[in-house]
Amino acid sequence: MESMMINNTWLLLPILFLSANYLIQCVNGKPQVPCLFIFGDSLSDSGNNNNLPTSSKANYNPYGIDFPIGPTGRFTNGRNSIDIITQLLGFEKFIPPFANINGSGILKGVNYASGGAGIRAETSMTMGFVISLGLQLKNHRVIVSQIAGKLGSVDKAQQYLNKCLYYVNIGSNDYINNYYLPQYYPTSHIYNTEQYAEVLIQELSLNLLALHEIGARKYVLVGLGLLGCTPNAIYLHGTNGSCVEEENAPAYIYNAKLKSLVDNFNNKFSLDSKFIFINSTSESDGQSSDGFLVSNAPCCPSRLVGGGCIPDEKPCYNRSDYVFWDDFHPTDAWNQLIAIGSYDDPYSSGYTYPMDIKHLVEQETKMELESINENTSQLSASS
Ligand SMILES: *[C@@H]1O[C@H](CO)[C@@H](O)[C@H](O)[C@H]1NC(C)=O
Ligand SMILES: *[C@@H]1O[C@H](CO)[C@@H](O)[C@H](O)[C@H]1NC(C)=O
Ligand SMILES: *[C@@H]1O[C@H](CO)[C@@H](O)[C@H](O)[C@H]1NC(C)=O
Ligand SMILES: *[C@@H]1O[C@H](CO)[C@@H](O)[C@H](O)[C@H]1NC(C)=O
Ligand SMILES: *[C@@H]1O[C@H](CO)[C@@H](O)[C@H](O)[C@H]1NC(C)=O
Repeated sequence: MESMMINNTWLLLPILFLSANYLIQCVNGKPQVPCLFIFGDSLSDSGNNNNLPTSSKANYNPYGIDFPIGPTGRFTNGRNSIDIITQLLGFEKFIPPFANINGSGILKGVNYASGGAGIRAETSMTMGFVISLGLQLKNHRVIVSQIAGKLGSVDKAQQYLNKCLYYVNIGSNDYINNYYLPQYYPTSHIYNTEQYAEVLIQELSLNLLALHEIGARKYVLVGLGLLGCTPNAIYLHGTNGSCVEEENAPAYIYNAKLKSLVDNFNNKFSLDSKFIFINSTSESDGQSSDGFLVSNAPCCPSRLVGGGCIPDEKPCYNRSDYVFWDDFHPTDAWNQLIAIGSYDDPYSSGYTYPMDIKHLVEQETKMELESINENTSQLSASS
């Protein structure tokens, strides 16, 4: 009863009033999907890089300063946006990183995201070893066979996995730690921005098809944010606080192609699957950061190269005044806006397409209903 009241009340509250604690408190009951699998980069990593030979790490102070157990490998002061979406979906615990999986708990999902990871295998290799999207899929196959073992058969695993949500948030590093570093990577000599986006989307779509083959039916595909508006880009280009427009343009091109991919897949798989697109450029632009005082500088003193927080340096006092926690990654406060906008987009602002996560999740029931109806009509036809 009390929890119902909390749920009803918070819907009426303006977004900015939702404090971190509030979101944690309103988690109760059964999650809206039985399982959630997370693929991506540092925007979603929750500890997969901690023991990898890479400089792309965040398991030290002051990362995690606002997270209940301190630094975990999350590249932010508190929660990643997918952590908050996980809470909005009603899960009682965050989805564990693949690196910490010990056999129990995999039925609720696994987080494969790795800081620095890209769609392309060579992305971020100058920072050491990170887990590219292809390798994340390989790790998922390991988990899928463990799930088949637990449930007794591959068929049962498939049926179960059909109900899960698959969240894919990757691609920024294919620009930041690949295309924009011509001294290390040849991609910008080979492709123009249009061709490069096309190549990335093709490789992404092959991975999504592979995921479909092993049971994925419900997908959240997150577009790129405005890469030219990170404090790192602003600093490196000496633009005196304004966004670097030539680094933003490719994000728009990539996102338009990702949105078309969503349309294509929704047509191709209209009978069994649903894909949604999250337009990260519609919110991450410095102009729309209402309520935040600082959108072009990091809260934690950051390294000039790499952009991570300098270990043990004191961060800014009021983290909710800042869009950016370090030179690349948003604060928990900004992640709340992203998460709530992705989950619940009632005004069809264009942030989610063609529907928000809340409706995507309900959609499952609809597809099941359709399958029941189909079965019923088959029954009546054969009787
Ligand atoms: C296994 O992982 C779960 C969830 O992460 C944790 O609660 C549990 O303590 C772990 N068990 C062992 C034996 O490490
Ligand atoms: C940089 O920005 C600051 C604050 O917006 C402004 O006062 C200053 O004149 C700018 N400097 C240059 C060189 O444009
Ligand atoms: C995302 O949103 C921005 C800002 O509203 C818009 O300009 C852009 O066209 C959108 N992108 C896509 C692919 O819909
Ligand atoms: C932190 O900043 C927010 C937003 O500007 C403000 O509402 C809040 O009062 C500040 N908190 C503290 C402790 O200064
Ligand atoms: C519909 O029938 C198929 C095969 O006959 C079966 O696998 C599926 O579980 C049924 N769906 C429902 C919702 O009963």
